[in-house]
Amino acid sequence: MDYFKKSKVLVSGGAGFVGSNLVKMLLAKYPGIRITVVDNFLSSELANLPADHRLKILNGSIAGDTILKSVNDDFDYIFHLATFHGNQNSIYDPLADHANNTLTSLKLMNHVKRFKKLHALVYSGAGCASAKKTFGKAEATREDAPVSLLQDSPYSISKLIGEFYAVYFQRQFGLPAVRARFQNVYGPGEVLGAGKWRGTPATVWRNVVPVFIYKALNKQPLTVENKGVATRDFIFVDDICKGLIACAVKGKPGEAYNLASGKETKIIDLARTINELTGNTAGIKFLPKRSWDNSGKRFGSTRKSRGKIGFQASVGLREGVQETISWTRANIHLINKCIKKHRKHMAL
Ligand SMILES: NC(=O)c1ccc[n+]([C@@H]2O[C@H](COP(=O)([O-])OP(=O)(O)OC[C@H]3O[C@@H](n4cnc5c(N)ncnc54)[C@H](O)[C@@H]3O)[C@@H](O)[C@H]2O)c1
Repeated sequence: MDYFKKSKVLVSGGAGFVGSNLVKMLLAKYPGIRITVVDNFLSSELANLPADHRLKILNGSIAGDTILKSVNDDFDYIFHLATFHGNQNSIYDPLADHANNTLTSLKLMNHVKRFKKLHALVYSGAGCASAKKTFGKAEATREDAPVSLLQDSPYSISKLIGEFYAVYFQRQFGLPAVRARFQNVYGPGEVLGAGKWRGTPATVWRNVVPVFIYKALNKQPLTVENKGVATRDFIFVDDICKGLIACAVKGKPGEAYNLASGKETKIIDLARTINELTGNTAGIKFLPKRSWDNSGKRFGSTRKSRGKIGFQASVGLREGVQETISWTRANIHLINKCIKKHRKHMAL
């Protein structure tokens, strides 16, 4: 893929978990690339990003008028990853979610809708928003599956609205917007407690994989809701980044592509694997079902992205979890520092 060779790339939310991994991958692969990251550090740390003369960092919201004014028609690719992380914080503060999730997508796409140089704007959609809400047997969610109005959180609604705008601006203005639909991403670089307090303990306890690893390394029992029957499709962050690049280069404007492993993993099995790989003997503590979470079992279909953009996840769960455990061990001081920042809000 020579496309990115001398290209100019904008990454909104580029200091975050996925964004920082993408930035590092692009810098490593393409020596001639220039990248601008726009991030307001709501759920990330500057330490996530490398010092590199090819990387420019703008501290502020991608929905901010001053920032947007500096985004000119000279970008080849835009990856729009900014979001208000995550479901529970968005339930606590739907307006903050709106400002940093819905409005970011609308203002960015509206601003770039007539750009001539742009080859692709890749939007980071969420598989959870389009998956069927079921605790029965899950079917692989396809990109053309009907989307329900019943959504569990403002975050989920915002992610769908971003997709609506991507389709709208593509159809009406020819914006080369491609939708990448992520399943559950895990891997090095997801720093628990990164960024600012966003209203709930989910500021600290982000996604299930880093939480289980952190607790297991601290010899604590892993807390599993609803007997751990829920299933998720876990995809390693390097695979997601390769998928984002494939969407940018090979994706058809207006279309959606699942970035999924296609494999369904029960949360209870994930917990057992992490306890085994870390040697944690504290076991598992069972809690009731989370009241807001009805998205019980889900995984993504890989057929379209494999056939159309040649994307296939290559890192297996054990291998990816092992790598994430090593990264967590090596970065435990940063993680502890970020968690402690929020101690006045939580009993830590
Ligand atoms: N991680 C997952 O499992 C997953 C699953 C589905 C979809 N996604 C989507 O992928 C994208 C990246 O997710 P992530 O896991 O890296 O989350 P993250 O929280 O680590 O990264 C999001 C970044 O956006 C930044 N941000 C927030 N508001 C902003 C604003 N107004 N302007 C500019 N930057 C802003 C945050 O500071 C953070 O750096 C998000 O859009 C998310 O919805 C992630």
